Amino acid sequence: ATGHLYVTRDLGPEPMELLRNSGHELVVHPDRDLPPTREALLDGVSGAAGIITLLTEKMDAALFDHAGPQLQVVSAVSVGTDNIDVGAASSRGITVTNTPDVLTDATADLAMGLLLALNRRIVQADAFLRRGEAWSWGPRLFLGRDLAGEVLGIVGYGRIGEALARRARAFGMRVIAAGSDQAHNSGVERMPLPQLLRTADVVSLHAPLTERTRHLLGTEELAAMKQGAIIINTARGPLIDEDALVEALRRGKIRGAGLDVFEYEPKIHPGLLELDSVVLTPHIGSAGEQTRTRMAMLALENALAVLDGQSPPTPVNEKSRPAVTVPPVGV
Ligand code: GLV
Ligand code: GLV
Repeated sequence: ATGHLYVTRDLGPEPMELLRNSGHELVVHPDRDLPPTREALLDGVSGAAGIITLLTEKMDAALFDHAGPQLQVVSAVSVGTDNIDVGAASSRGITVTNTPDVLTDATADLAMGLLLALNRRIVQADAFLRRGEAWSWGPRLFLGRDLAGEVLGIVGYGRIGEALARRARAFGMRVIAAGSDQAHNSGVERMPLPQLLRTADVVSLHAPLTERTRHLLGTEELAAMKQGAIIINTARGPLIDEDALVEALRRGKIRGAGLDVFEYEPKIHPGLLELDSVVLTPHIGSAGEQTRTRMAMLALENALAVLDGQSPPTPVNEKSRPAVTVPPVGV
């Protein structure tokens, strides 16, 4: 055997059982709820043939070099791989894999939930009742906005964007989309981002985080949006310039925001916490029980496939440089 499989978090009983029976030496970061520190991470990956990682761990060139040349696979238990330097992995012949598809519905569900919560003021209304104030039914009590007839603008029209489009159309919304990672034929009206921003009552982000998409929504883009539009982000926090968003929310230019991800995660912008026009959730887009199990199982399949010399089901890169022949990892 020339290296262990390092797992940065306990992935639950079923996946861990499968891993223990896989024939590979297993090292698991012992804390269930907190990511390893950088030191613990470097320690854990040193000499590893494979790493199963969550999005909280930064997988960069220095870490790959610290792990050693026997490292063959970095398997992400997430669809996003912005925490991984995929280029650095490719140049070292390391396969990177992710978990697309299995979390598409769960993430689209949360985006729809945030939209419903904002438009119908569900979170504020709940807090109102809990304060125990006297109330009676009234025609203007917690007036929100109907979904039917509103225009939903989807930015980043991949699998999750498409799944949200299906949901939104079922609610009677008109759906438009900008940007495309894949071609889809679902009858959604496509337009350039500036036009989408001028047209949409609700803008929902579903693009991956790259250097090109960082601050996709900044001061200028927010200013170009419709007065009183709302923003949903279940993708990655840095897609939005949070300072600019807080400012636009304060001025009422943006009526509300439903945010599951944050620019400086896990830090939340203090301005967001002061505003009751936002609904905040702690990066739980894929947090459905069945979804999380499917993600863990797919990540395992990916890692074990590479370690066993097979093609992984969902690679992110083409393993490009097996320049040094690494002896197979076995029992
Ligand atoms: C979650 O954010 C993911 O990328 O899977
Ligand atoms: C992610 O799965 C996406 O393509 O939206």
